[in-house]
Amino acid sequence: MSYFQQTNEPVIEFKEITKLFKEGRGIRDISFDITKENNIVGLIGNNGAGKTTLLKTLFKEYTAQNGEILINGEPLENKHLKKMAFFPDQNNFPKHFNIIEFAKFSAELKGIKPKDYVDKLEKLIRFLKLENFRKSKFTKLSAGQQKRALLLSVLITNPKIIALDEPTANLDVDARIEFQEILKTLANDLKISIIITSHIIDEMENLINKVVLIKDGVIVYDNNYSLVKDGKLEVLYKDYVTYQKQQIKVDKQKAGNKSNVASLVDILRNEDDD
Ligand SMILES: Nc1ncnc2c1ncn2[C@@H]1O[C@H](COP(=O)(O)OP(=O)(O)OP(=O)(O)O)[C@@H](O)[C@H]1O
Ligand SMILES: [Mg+2]
Repeated sequence: MSYFQQTNEPVIEFKEITKLFKEGRGIRDISFDITKENNIVGLIGNNGAGKTTLLKTLFKEYTAQNGEILINGEPLENKHLKKMAFFPDQNNFPKHFNIIEFAKFSAELKGIKPKDYVDKLEKLIRFLKLENFRKSKFTKLSAGQQKRALLLSVLITNPKIIALDEPTANLDVDARIEFQEILKTLANDLKISIIITSHIIDEMENLINKVVLIKDGVIVYDNNYSLVKDGKLEVLYKDYVTYQKQQIKVDKQKAGNKSNVASLVDILRNEDDD
């Protein structure tokens, strides 16, 4: 049986998560879910709202004081972490590895044997246009190249869930569009669940199919999202974050994104789901 069922059951459920630091900062009572269908979630909020804290809790870097996280209905544990990948922000690049070493390290950290990743590694290197940077350390690459190299280390691990913290900061317009297309392909064609934070909310509009607005550690809006149905994110943000309008919950609706980065699908599809 596949690791994730072919239904619209929740893939990730945050249930009343509270993680407070000293002085009472952090996140409180965070509940929302990510389903098979609404699987690109934009986590949007002001600086210090708690976005990174929530992602770190998802990856067990922080232990919540209250609440639980379910993955496919099961309490989050290490076996799930093997199928999850974290895409760090620009301040957290690996310093000492070259990009291939880091990709291999990432795979092996998840228990993937070389024979199970060598072919895919080569295909991904070509797909991500990294052929000329095999020996390069991250510090010697441009922002766009760094992001592609990080994607290499993420995709090599065959994740079912990817969390990205400000992934497109520093990217030019073309690189940003390309990055988004890759994320859409991963979500739509490979059914990978994606949770993404960004301050550039315009660019999230054509990407996400669910939005969670978070303000000072608390969720103020949580709903499925499509640009056509719900309008600009900036307006939602102003209403619910800036002016503190109260959300009236509505039924879930489908929001689809089409993508055609076909070769990536070929590279990553048909992986064994263990
Ligand atoms: N390790 C920590 N120790 C103490 N306080 C922390 C720690 N990490 C975060 N905080 C505090 O918790 C709150 C949430 O921080 P967090 O980094 O999650 O916000 P964010 O939404 O990711 O912000 P940004 O948009 O600036 O990245 C902030 O008030 C921050 O000061
Ligand atoms: Mg942050």
